[in-house]
Amino acid sequence: MTKIIQSVACEIEIGSLSESSFSKFLSSYSGAKKIIFVDENTHDYCLEYLLTAFEELNDAEVMLLPAGEENKVMEVCFQVWEAMTEYQIGRSDLILNLGGGIVTDMGGFIASIYKRGIHFIHIPTSLLGMVDASIGNKTGIDLGKFKNQLGVFASPKHIFVDPGFLQTLPVEEIANGFAEMLKHALIADKDYWALLSNFDLQNETIPTAYLEKSIEIKNTIVLSDPTENGARKKLNFGHTFGHAIEGILLGTEDEIAHGHAVAIGIVAEAFISFKRNLIEKNTFVEIEKTIRHYFHVPVFALEIDHELFNLMQNDKKNFENQVQCTLLKGIGESIVNQAIDKKEVTLVLEYLAHAQN
Ligand SMILES: NC(=O)c1ccc[n+]([C@@H]2O[C@H](COP(=O)([O-])OP(=O)(O)OC[C@H]3O[C@@H](n4cnc5c(N)ncnc54)[C@H](O)[C@@H]3O)[C@@H](O)[C@H]2O)c1
Repeated sequence: MTKIIQSVACEIEIGSLSESSFSKFLSSYSGAKKIIFVDENTHDYCLEYLLTAFEELNDAEVMLLPAGEENKVMEVCFQVWEAMTEYQIGRSDLILNLGGGIVTDMGGFIASIYKRGIHFIHIPTSLLGMVDASIGNKTGIDLGKFKNQLGVFASPKHIFVDPGFLQTLPVEEIANGFAEMLKHALIADKDYWALLSNFDLQNETIPTAYLEKSIEIKNTIVLSDPTENGARKKLNFGHTFGHAIEGILLGTEDEIAHGHAVAIGIVAEAFISFKRNLIEKNTFVEIEKTIRHYFHVPVFALEIDHELFNLMQNDKKNFENQVQCTLLKGIGESIVNQAIDKKEVTLVLEYLAHAQN
């Protein structure tokens, strides 16, 4: 049995692909060319299952998007668009994005720009892809250090979330997705936070019920504000700092993954929430302790405050030239459109420099 959740313009189906409507869905594209986007890892770990279990994909083309955030760029898109043109991919053909958030973000972007948009589906294979990146119609790529600077809202035709793909996902990648799950709990559900706080990330398998919970939280927020004019900004909790930290470290030897950066951003933005008396000290302490239990929070040089703030000033979430942040009002409650200034960024760096890891 699969669980079906209605999203903005498509269904999210959670459960084994073989028990899902995947086969039936593919049959409705029987005359279409099917192009499967993979990266090196999903090519090695996920593709074979798809090709052997579904005869509808016998003639599918496979296109490799190079793995890694540094490859989520326009240059790669150009190459893929050229290859698609060469293969005469048309508007009635179908793209299948089989991968983590990078494949779904970039594959969705490539599909939605090509010939003014061709049909695509997401089959997320990373935890972060399942609970976050594949949900909510945001597609895009990076521009230099600016994350997701180029992109469009575009809906896949279907999202198939098969937890089976998580079996080959390295534990550090499970942790990346887990950071977004912790965020979901912090902005929307205190009981879920309690469950996640006591989870053994190293030894336990993420229960499908947790995947469903996170997807439901994200999807409910997205449905209430599909193009991010208000409530959807709740999902940005941890991301103002997170994206800036990810950007600063991108391409350096200290580069960290998106989810890890968000985890650090959660501590930073919970700290600001506490400093503004939006949350009690013990709430902040609890959040910080939980994040540090799962993630390493590095100490940053105080001098990066300028660069961090500069990156934040270019964040898409800003309004009227102010850096806009989502803060917490408690565990399970958040408040959007909170302008923060450079002094608070400095204060966070000073706090992290003195806090125990
Ligand atoms: N569109 C959105 O709303 C949204 C939301 C959150 C994050 N994102 C984006 O998502 C990206 C991060 O996604 P991610 O963390 O999934 O990164 P990712 O796509 O790089 O995947 C992480 C790693 O896991 C590998 N992998 C994926 N599935 C696997 C599997 N089943 N077995 C073995 N290896 C596997 C990948 O090859 C990669 O090396 C970022 O670019 C971020 O900006 C987008």
